[in-house]
Amino acid sequence: MEEYAMKGGNPLVGEVEISGAKNAALPIIAASIMTDDTVYIDNIPDVSDIRTLLDCMKKLGVNEKKKDKHSVAINGSQIFTLVADQEDLRKIRGSYYLIGTLLGKYKEATVALPGGCDIGSRGIDQHIKGFKALGATIKIEHGSVIAKAEKLVGAHIYMDVVSVGATINVMMAAVLAEGQTIIENAAKEPHVVDLANFLNSMGANIKGAGTDVIRIKGVPTLHGTEYTIIPDQIEAGTFMFAAAATKGDVTVKNVIPKHLESITAKLIEMGCEVEEFDDAVRVVASKPLRTTHVKTLPYPGFPTDMQAVMAASLGLAKGISIVTESIFENRFRYVDELARMGADIKVEGNTAIITGVDQYTGASITAPDLRAGAALVIAGLSASGFTTVDNIQYIERGYENFHKKLQGLGAQIEKVETERDFKKFKLKIG
Ligand code: EPZ
Repeated sequence: MEEYAMKGGNPLVGEVEISGAKNAALPIIAASIMTDDTVYIDNIPDVSDIRTLLDCMKKLGVNEKKKDKHSVAINGSQIFTLVADQEDLRKIRGSYYLIGTLLGKYKEATVALPGGCDIGSRGIDQHIKGFKALGATIKIEHGSVIAKAEKLVGAHIYMDVVSVGATINVMMAAVLAEGQTIIENAAKEPHVVDLANFLNSMGANIKGAGTDVIRIKGVPTLHGTEYTIIPDQIEAGTFMFAAAATKGDVTVKNVIPKHLESITAKLIEMGCEVEEFDDAVRVVASKPLRTTHVKTLPYPGFPTDMQAVMAASLGLAKGISIVTESIFENRFRYVDELARMGADIKVEGNTAIITGVDQYTGASITAPDLRAGAALVIAGLSASGFTTVDNIQYIERGYENFHKKLQGLGAQIEKVETERDFKKFKLKIG
């Protein structure tokens, strides 16, 4: 099994190009089949979750032509089955977007219940509630969601929790429903807005995305479009915290600084200097890190996907910091691994109490999920000595060329497969 081997202690310095947003690309790719015309999508991140979705869509009869690894032309006119239950689909969360898109277009869909990272219970009751309000019947049988409707009719839907997935899924189904749908208590994440912009460029009529009330006037059909996906806010934030934890100086390029505001604010509280440009942000960590407190919240609050990465940095700030996770209940699984590197973190319920240490020490550790995996790599790069992180398939679900981008910033990190590779790496690095 492949793992990352690294020697820490070097400040990361330089510039890094941020890829397209995975969590925008997943629904946009799924929604591109809602027209029979061809849709051209650019700035797709080359990560395994996206490859899995594209491969599974091919098996439904979707035609895909890759111009290069970041651009694809998708045509959904030849879809021959509305049953999307391939085993691989169960591994990714974004698979459930096929319920909204197939139901919207064909009024029928059978889709494997979604998987994704094990970060807590991830119900889909709000998705189901929304589809039912639009007139669909929903059954769950043999591990799949079966959705059917004679026709979809717009409705007024109040989400009981702020859910990215449910907002997106219901929005997609409502685009081709008859009449007006109003989604209240909607998620406001940048990827919700990006999907709405994409659907509007296909002829949909969506207003209010980015606020907590989204209004959708159904249209009879959608048409082809060309669209460029927004930069990945979470990938950008990961490199920003990597600068902080390694006392580095990193400029993240190809970003929308507005999307990074909650992350920037925390880095400033921690004593970093953050400089914003039109499409780049520079983080300089020349002073000792300061403690702070943070609570994860839906956008524009501090993202849950950044919680582990921030905690790994706070573990190096002298004093006590408190991190509260309010979105998912199982997102502290990296704490035991960080403890093996010398971190002092106590978890009580949904709160982590972090007492800063001077430095982490290298260890052999395991990535428990995507974002926690990235956090452990950052810890390894700030630690003294050698660290290996295994289970990197999680990290590769959502970070394109992670170790290569880190190498570009001067990190001593390589992908190794065997003990011999690791020994060779150690000899090379010294
Ligand atoms: C999306 O997951 C992202 N995944 C997650 O990113 C991200 O952590 C999360 O949003 C929050 O920002 C994708 O976009 C593919 P939710 P999602 O529905 O849509 C509860 C990553 O690392 N809920 O906003 O599954 C749920 O249990 C991943 O890239 C219900 O109760 O998240 C959670 O507590 C990990 N019922 C809260 O809402 C529902 O029907 C937010 O979940 C739906 C959700």
